[in-house]
Amino acid sequence: MAEQEIGKLAADCAVCRKCPLGETRTKLVFGVGKAPSELMLVGEGPGEQEDLQGEPFVGPAGRLLDDMLELIGLDRSMIYIANMVKCRPPHNRDPQETELAACRPWLDAQIRLVRPKIIVCLGRIAAGELIRGDFRITREHGQWFERDGVRMMAIYHPSALLRDVSKRPETFADLRELRGVLRRETDIYTEISLRS
Ligand code: URA
Repeated sequence: MAEQEIGKLAADCAVCRKCPLGETRTKLVFGVGKAPSELMLVGEGPGEQEDLQGEPFVGPAGRLLDDMLELIGLDRSMIYIANMVKCRPPHNRDPQETELAACRPWLDAQIRLVRPKIIVCLGRIAAGELIRGDFRITREHGQWFERDGVRMMAIYHPSALLRDVSKRPETFADLRELRGVLRRETDIYTEISLRS
């Protein structure tokens, strides 16, 4: 069972000290949701609320993410959500290259267990790591890429959408594009209608 395997991986990750973030965090924020799942979202790293609660995207950005998912008929229990780094960078600074590199094997192992057809990168940090080093979120959000047989798209990070509401219409268009591909190329909506 993928979910049990992910649980074991999270237990191993809880004692990881491959970078200094493990020393300063409160709780490990490994990931949440369904595994396997055809859709996986990858953010940057835990913020204050995530660090306290041990779950990704539970603060203000997370509430907006839930609204964005609802807009396309999804909720977090139907998909899998993780971050590039599993421990909170102090004062919400960007994760450093060494921290991203140290944490990457955990994400790669999660991806192997979740087996997504589609990964949506939430923001420039995840896109820069998973799609292309010089990814430009302002120009390339909403476009499709393929990496190791997985379709990938980046959208603006929900925190960026909280800071700058002018980016929201473009993000709604990206989400509609995502919904179209999910409808055509996955069983995600069929599974939902069978459940209800
Ligand atoms: N921002 C992220 O990138 N991830 C979280 O889990 C919360 C805020």
